[in-house]
Amino acid sequence: MNLGVNIDHVATLRNARGGIEPSVLDAALICEMAGATAITVHLREDRRHIKDDDVLTLKKHLKAKINLEMAATDEMQEIAMSVIPYSCCIVPEKRQELTTEGGLDVISKKDRIKTLIDALHSKNIIVSLFIDPDLTQIKAASDIGADYIELHTGSFSNAFGKDNEIIEFNKLKDGAKYAQSLGLKVNAGHGLNYENVALMNKIDGLCELNIGHSIISRAIFVGLEMAVKEMIELI
Ligand code: PXP
Repeated sequence: MNLGVNIDHVATLRNARGGIEPSVLDAALICEMAGATAITVHLREDRRHIKDDDVLTLKKHLKAKINLEMAATDEMQEIAMSVIPYSCCIVPEKRQELTTEGGLDVISKKDRIKTLIDALHSKNIIVSLFIDPDLTQIKAASDIGADYIELHTGSFSNAFGKDNEIIEFNKLKDGAKYAQSLGLKVNAGHGLNYENVALMNKIDGLCELNIGHSIISRAIFVGLEMAVKEMIELI
């Protein structure tokens, strides 16, 4: 199982003073050197952390795969098709949310998302859909030609250590199995940390975990390289 590191928080810190520190590119290079196979950035409509230039700079200097998280908007489609990241992960986006809350509703936006997938495929960009472990959403993702789904692990992470942990875990396990039976490749992410991540090893065939908050938080104490290496060790 591979690790993709989400470095949005590095940009949040940089933007707090409006300057150039800490460098998003340097953070990405350290993650890459520490063994991350992908660097994930979410270019939000409000550009609250990652900016357009960050995506271009990463594309120019990184060997690791760039996974661009984006909403299914015309603006983001245009940017992705001009930057051509390795992959795009389509996420729902609400302006007021602190972070991505809940998975994409593929069923209600089927036509728009299919058009987006087709456009990204025309540039050989791999497409992943960030969805809850809901079998009907997984089926819809397969029907419209997604390459991957990224299972939203937020409910599992919130339930970790509580009575409903096993229920939420089983939803992920069953969702992954069903997706794989339809030919989808499966990633997972959101809210994963150094304690709960070990359980992801009990889900067969997961390709990649995308983790941001816990790694960047731990980096404050042990440094980014060590924080990434420790997470890789666990997964
Ligand atoms: N995957 C997706 C699609 C996300 O939107 C996020 C948060 O930006 C993550 C993974 C990483 O979540 P966390 O920061 O909680 O590790």
